[in-house]
Amino acid sequence: MSGFVTVWLECRSDSVRRMFEELLASHRAFLIKQSGGPATVDVVCVELDEINPERTLASMKGLLEKNPALEVFLTGGRTDSQVMLEAFRIGIKEFLPQPINRKEFDAALSRLKDRLMSKAGNRSAKGGKIIAFLGAKGGIGTSTLAVNLAMSLRQLKQAKQVALVDLNLDDSDLPLFLDLQPGKGFRDLVRDLSRMDATFVQSLMSKHESDLHLLQSGLTGTEGPTGEAIPGGAALHTLDVMRSMYDHVFVDCGHTLNPETREALDFASMVVLVTTLSLPAIRRAKQFLQVMRNAGFDRDKVTIVVNRYQSSDAELLQHAEELFEQKVGWLVPNDYQMASSSLNKGEPLTVHAPRAALTQWYLAQAASLAGDKSVNAVEAGGGSEQKSSLFSRYWGGLTFSAKARG
Ligand SMILES: Nc1ncnc2c1ncn2[C@@H]1O[C@H](COP(=O)(O)OP(=O)(O)O)[C@@H](O)[C@H]1O
Ligand SMILES: [Mg+2]
Repeated sequence: MSGFVTVWLECRSDSVRRMFEELLASHRAFLIKQSGGPATVDVVCVELDEINPERTLASMKGLLEKNPALEVFLTGGRTDSQVMLEAFRIGIKEFLPQPINRKEFDAALSRLKDRLMSKAGNRSAKGGKIIAFLGAKGGIGTSTLAVNLAMSLRQLKQAKQVALVDLNLDDSDLPLFLDLQPGKGFRDLVRDLSRMDATFVQSLMSKHESDLHLLQSGLTGTEGPTGEAIPGGAALHTLDVMRSMYDHVFVDCGHTLNPETREALDFASMVVLVTTLSLPAIRRAKQFLQVMRNAGFDRDKVTIVVNRYQSSDAELLQHAEELFEQKVGWLVPNDYQMASSSLNKGEPLTVHAPRAALTQWYLAQAASLAGDKSVNAVEAGGGSEQKSSLFSRYWGGLTFSAKARG
């Protein structure tokens, strides 16, 4: 399951509280909230008052009547059949006898996930699409790709809410691409995960004049709080909340695998692995592909992108694809002058050079990401053979250009 589940612990003894904390620690998708109370979460874990069980049950009954979607896990030392019957009657679906056995607890969580998934109207109001960008190396164009695809999509689909997330926690430069002041962001957001919600996320977003929103890394200058630890699950929870706020979320994961970027890659519905055709980049891309395959990623989930492609590279490309055991999905035309002048001016390509071939390539890919097949010359052009041909991957943007302007 993707998404996270908030938990409230209603325990009479510290030992039971600790037991729940330990059991939940290995489940990244579950977040124990420290404030807000039992009515603000998805699941309440409650310890039965053994001397006066009616009291616990009455309070849970009141809670469930007001919050019918709430799930309650009840734990107790003895299994009195009357108490159990009453518990199930008021809507408690799980009872965990103490001491709680990990296997039983995990099974209860797994049933819970199934129930939550099948519930209508789940928490993702928009159910936005998350695309994570991972660079094989630094300096090969990963940020350029994430920024310009997001911006092109924003330009093509004015009605769609689009956000960018900068997970380059030590080396962040997305604000430069958009001429935005470096400011607060992810690091500030995840300092207290229990506060995480759409309002808090919204308050930390930087806004470009195009209405593209950016969640910065939250690293300001060299004296930024680089040493501060990021809690586990931080990226997962952030993206889960953002998914309910935006139609498309583009995550720049930089070129390193760390817990945050791993979570983003895991959570994303699509991973864009960016490489060039230089040998070190190809080698590293192959390693990343292997990591993702070992982690059980679907082949369809990962799109390999070769940046700075030129037609003289055709043979190299073929060798790279053999090594990857996978076709390269997109070939981004090489235009260093255009890409770097756009970056230096802090203007995305659609603003900087709307008619340039490179910009047209971006617009075509953005249209295809938006599911807009009718304007995608590559896909409209014919069968699957043509779709994966070198010509269509590379020059798709150019064939599309006339339509984009018309
Ligand atoms: N299609 C392209 N053709 C030529 N140069 C490019 C292209 N895309 C990006 N670049 C340049 O590559 C350099 C690194 O880009 P950047 O996006 O910052 O890389 P990364 O995020 O991988 O470190 C920049 O100077 C950028 O202008
Ligand atoms: Mg970068």
